[in-house]
Amino acid sequence: MAMTHQQHDDVQYLARHIPKGLELGLRNYWYPVLQSEDLVAGQPLGFRALGETLVAWRGRDGAPNVVFDRCSHRAAKLSLGRVLAGDLQCALHGLRFNGRGECTLIPWEDEDSPLRNNVGVTGYPAREIGGWIYAYIGDPQVYPPPPLEDVIPEELLKPDEFIVFRHPIDVWKCNWLQALDGSDGFHAVMLHSESQPVAKKDWHGGAVERPAVKQEDRRMKVLDTPQGLRGVAYDPAGGDQLHHGHFLHGWKGERWTLPCLFSLPLAPAPNVPPYVARLYQFPIDATHTQCSRWVAMRASTDAERDRCRHFYEEIIGPRQRKVMSEDKVMSESIGDLAETRNAEHLFAADRDVVTVRRMMADAWLAQHGGSRPTHGPDAMAFPV
Ligand code: FES
Ligand SMILES: [Fe+2]
Repeated sequence: MAMTHQQHDDVQYLARHIPKGLELGLRNYWYPVLQSEDLVAGQPLGFRALGETLVAWRGRDGAPNVVFDRCSHRAAKLSLGRVLAGDLQCALHGLRFNGRGECTLIPWEDEDSPLRNNVGVTGYPAREIGGWIYAYIGDPQVYPPPPLEDVIPEELLKPDEFIVFRHPIDVWKCNWLQALDGSDGFHAVMLHSESQPVAKKDWHGGAVERPAVKQEDRRMKVLDTPQGLRGVAYDPAGGDQLHHGHFLHGWKGERWTLPCLFSLPLAPAPNVPPYVARLYQFPIDATHTQCSRWVAMRASTDAERDRCRHFYEEIIGPRQRKVMSEDKVMSESIGDLAETRNAEHLFAADRDVVTVRRMMADAWLAQHGGSRPTHGPDAMAFPV
């Protein structure tokens, strides 16, 4: 993705790398806003994303629809309405809208009244795939949505080749840019020192046996790897090095893909299948972040799937839950976005964080300048 740092005289900044507006996310991308089971046929569901109040429902064919959650008549919430004939009808006086947001009925006017053309609501393209409901939030007329299949991870498209474990959607009380910062590759040896144990080489299952470096004696080396900067804990007085993260070698994809997808390829222990953790973090509003995430492994036979399921339930699931709750607590502790950004003291070890901050700022500025950055076709490949 080629982008140059751009200058725009008319752009105001909240803080360095945060043009005003970016705090509410990058528009004109597909986002995994809901999980399939959240959206029950016949029941509209209100939600928020990128600072917008939206409603989803399933049409006659079961496919999801997403429009503004605000009736164009007198502003009642459409999410309190009824699904009738596949459309969404406002509960208050009965205006009815289809999945594109077009008004299909004004109950006190003729069925084909042209007045319907004046009262549409904004609708966004929506698709369901791999247990997720994706919505394209932005302006499809200016930036037509790319086919969803081109911009989502490979495993969601190939259920016969992969097994995917979705986590429940989580909400963090912080700005999404602060949540993204939490993906730096060197905090794990400190923050996750207990929750992310790494097995000894001869580990074959059961409780994880690990080399001990006492917290008090623990120091860190920040190493530059093909997968970015990562931390390795060690005891300067000798003793075992303690590796964390176990990034896979031979990773084909990019760790970061727009608008906000972080891909972490992991080989957590010998003798277990490698996997990739995927994490989207996008704004609900300026102070709340939605985390939509899953873990995927390559598995095509029943025996492989059983093995992966066992591995996930025994090790990966509990570990991910602990690690993410530690990340959440830290991100929520940081405080006001602009204030804290302006007070930071960054080190060379923060290089990757700065790279991601620039990437997000550049994507926002590119759209401000009339173009929308996208990734190459390989960006969503499974690691190995
Ligand atoms: S407010 Fe929706 S029909 Fe009147
Ligand atoms: Fe973390």
